[in-house]
Formats: sequence, C-alpha cells, structure tokens
Amino acid sequence: MTGFTLRPVAPAEQPALLALNNRHDGPVNALTPEAFAGLCADAFLAIGAWDADGALLGLMVALGDAGPVHGPNHGWIRAHHPEAVYIDRIVVEPAAQGQGLGRALYGALAAAALDQGKTALGCEVNLDPPNPESLAFHARLGFAPAGEARDPRNGKLVRYLLADAAPLAALNTAHFLRSPAKRSCPAAPR
Ligand SMILES: CC(C)(COP(=O)(O)OP(=O)(O)OC[C@H]1O[C@@H](n2cnc3c(N)ncnc32)[C@H](O)[C@@H]1OP(=O)(O)O)[C@@H](O)C(=O)NCCC(=O)NCCS
Repeated sequence: MTGFTLRPVAPAEQPALLALNNRHDGPVNALTPEAFAGLCADAFLAIGAWDADGALLGLMVALGDAGPVHGPNHGWIRAHHPEAVYIDRIVVEPAAQGQGLGRALYGALAAAALDQGKTALGCEVNLDPPNPESLAFHARLGFAPAGEARDPRNGKLVRYLLADAAPLAALNTAHFLRSPAKRSCPAAPR
C-alpha cells in the first residue's frame, strides 16, 4: 500500500463497504443491507478508505447524539459520555493492516468531532470472545478503559474505551472533513 484516500461514503459505495464489514463478522457484527443503509443514514460520519486504484481498504462508521440509538453500546456511550462521538465500527482489510490506516481514520474522525464540539471518542472492544489486536490498537491510540458490560443481544462481554479527541485530531491527514466544501483529499502516503 503506497497511499490511501479517505472520504465520506456515497450511497452507491455502501454495498462494497458492507461486504468488507461482513467479512469481519465477529470483531464487528454482520449487518443486512437495510441495517447498514440505516446506520450510514444516521451516522455522524461514515468514511471509506481507497487505494490509488480504487480498491476499498477500510471503513469507519461513527454515531453521534442525534437520531436513534443503535444498540446498547451506542446507548451506553451516549448515556455516560455525551461529550463523545461513538465509533460503531472500524475495519481495515487484512492486507492493509499495520500501515497506519486505522490511525488515519481515527484522526479524521477526531478532527470532525472537535469541529462539532465533541471532545472525546468512545467505542467498545470485545473481551469475550477476546479481540486483543483491537485492544492493543486502541491502547496505542490513547484509549483508556471506561467500563464493561455484557451485550444482551449476543452475550459478548465488551470493554468501553474513551480517548480525548484533540491528540488524535493532531494526527489528522484528511483535512477534507474540516471543510464541508471539500469532499476529498489527496492520497496520504505513509
Ligand atoms: C484494529 C484495526 C482497525 C487496526 O487498524 P490498522 O490500520 O491495522 O492500525 P494502524 O496500522 O493504524 O496501527 C496504529 C497503531 O496501533 C498498533 N497496532 C495495530 N494493530 C495492532 C496489533 N494487532 N497488535 C499490536 N499493536 C497494533 C500499530 O502498531 C500502530 O502503532 P505504532 O505506529 O506505534 O506501530 C485492524 O486491525 C482491523 O480492522 N481489525 C479487524 C476488525 C476489528 O477488530 N475492528 C475493531 C473492532 S473493536
């Protein structure tokens, strides 16, 4: 991977993102096309990452405090940390992992969160069944434990994590999110 472009997801691009999401059922839950379209419609931000040839490399969907609550984990963050934007899901293609794309997605989201007066980012990571890779990734980005709960929908034990948006926003390479007029950004080499 020599570079990538981050931009908000257009409706026509949703099927490709959903396919990527559903290949990672477990770390993130699989969704129907209808559920994914609803999630994107309600999203604070839905971002895709593509390489120079247009191949999809990653996705992130984040939810704010407008619109319906999408499940108990979004509800927990909303109730306990209204200052935070909630990361509903992040997935990076295995071949593109470990090259800074996850960090770039968080940087872009953090910048957008600060622009909207949100000072923190929140998410959950599975403890049972465990997702040690995601725990290590989030710890590296400055996330700290904020609580635990068992998801009544599927019995998974999750740990809630929280991080200040400002240090993450300082990593942002996707300045398109700072300006509504600019909907794409140059490839971000790393
Ligand atoms: C978790 C995930 C999003 C990380 O994305 P990524 O693009 O590989 O992460 P980055 O390359 O931006 O890594 C950022 C930092 O986290 C660290 N990190 C990432 N994955 C790690 C791992 N498995 N173990 C230890 N550290 C890790 C990196 O080393 C890097 O720190 P460094 O720059 O000091 O080396 C990606 O592995 C993924 O999509 N996993 C499958 C789906 C998933 O689990 N999603 C999260 C659900 S909660």
